Amino acid sequence: MVEQDKIILAAEAANGIFYGMQTLLQMLLAEILGNSKIDLPLQIPCCFIEDKPRFGWRGMHLDVSRHFFGINFIKKYIDLLAMHKLNVFHWHLTDDNGWRIEIKKYPELTKTCGWRKNLEHLPWNVRDNPNDPGNGIYGGFYTQKEIKEIVKYAADRFIIVVPEIEMPGHSREVFAAFPQFSCRGEKLTVAPGGYWPNVDIFCAGKDETFEFLKNILLEVIELFPSQYIHIGGDEANKTRWKECPFCQQRIKDEKLKDVKELQSWFIKQIADFLQSKNKKLIGWDEIIDGGLIEDATVMCWRGDGIEAAKTAVQKGCDVIMCPNPYLYFDWKQNENDKGAFGVTTLEKVYNYDPVPQDFSQTEARHILGAQGNVWTEWMPSEASVEYMALPRMSALAELTWTFLENKNYPDFLKRLDKLVDIFSLKKINFNSEF
Ligand code: ACM
Ligand code: ZN
Repeated sequence: MVEQDKIILAAEAANGIFYGMQTLLQMLLAEILGNSKIDLPLQIPCCFIEDKPRFGWRGMHLDVSRHFFGINFIKKYIDLLAMHKLNVFHWHLTDDNGWRIEIKKYPELTKTCGWRKNLEHLPWNVRDNPNDPGNGIYGGFYTQKEIKEIVKYAADRFIIVVPEIEMPGHSREVFAAFPQFSCRGEKLTVAPGGYWPNVDIFCAGKDETFEFLKNILLEVIELFPSQYIHIGGDEANKTRWKECPFCQQRIKDEKLKDVKELQSWFIKQIADFLQSKNKKLIGWDEIIDGGLIEDATVMCWRGDGIEAAKTAVQKGCDVIMCPNPYLYFDWKQNENDKGAFGVTTLEKVYNYDPVPQDFSQTEARHILGAQGNVWTEWMPSEASVEYMALPRMSALAELTWTFLENKNYPDFLKRLDKLVDIFSLKKINFNSEF
């Protein structure tokens, strides 16, 4: 509440005060930016604002494997989340193109798997010529000390960092140092660009694979206080599993039907392990394909995500919505943009509702919220990440925070005009053609 001579902020918990401060800062900055001549004291209009978020999961994801971003940028990204009252940072730390988190038990993961042949001068999807010597190496990783610093930095802004360690697929980089955990045991290179189909995945038949992954997760659990650990689970091509004697033996021993069920069995091993450490597993929606595991939380991304969400909530699982035509911010913002796949305009993001129309109230309660995903195949620089994320992140913030009856796109656009002035003031790159 802003009165003539005082401002009162009240909330049930500390995060509410923090969000109130963000609103106040926006009003102050809008006042500064609205005046060509700044008169002190600054004035903001008397008002009464009562506010609360619609969803508990208001997230942004960042892929640091396809391109690596140092901790100063990660902090800048977290600052952006904070000013948008977002509360989850989903950190995609491992993928075919580089392992980015120090694991003390396996130093080779960062020494070898964090680096690839530098072919940055070539488009992402034409980097598969083995005879191209490249320009040295490309890569990087976060030390555990840096990870702790980021987790604390985020927590100070009421943001939870959810780490993602990809398995069983999107794991080719690991086989540059640990080929024994793949089906064929063949030493591979860290992919310098597009790797598709991504056939080399963790072997589900070897017990050593699980020992390795659990040892990694033990360190991850220590570093991240988040209740949730994301274990990927997406796009695991099963070609090798079909041919692998170890995987086939596992299917027999566990009386599974096929490789789809083997994937579910794989995820269940990890889910049980996480549960024994009081953590919850999140996976991309492929984790439901071979039979869903109780207590898993599903991140729905394929298509409009509704079918996966329905299957999951009917089994009593929670879901987070990030369907790719709506909330993948690597998609173009308009036809002229570089970017992956189709076009996702600001308006399309804004109008997205995470709760499918035909969901009952009980089903809707399982929808924790939504998040924007920033896959960085086509984003080699910090400026390009900012450009693709903004201002779609602002639309995401509103669709996760604001109740439907208060959403209004023309009104959002008016307010966005002020917000982008704040981006400019903070030297943040954004797409101004929205
Ligand atoms: C994904 O986009 N592969 C989750
Ligand atoms: Zn195998």
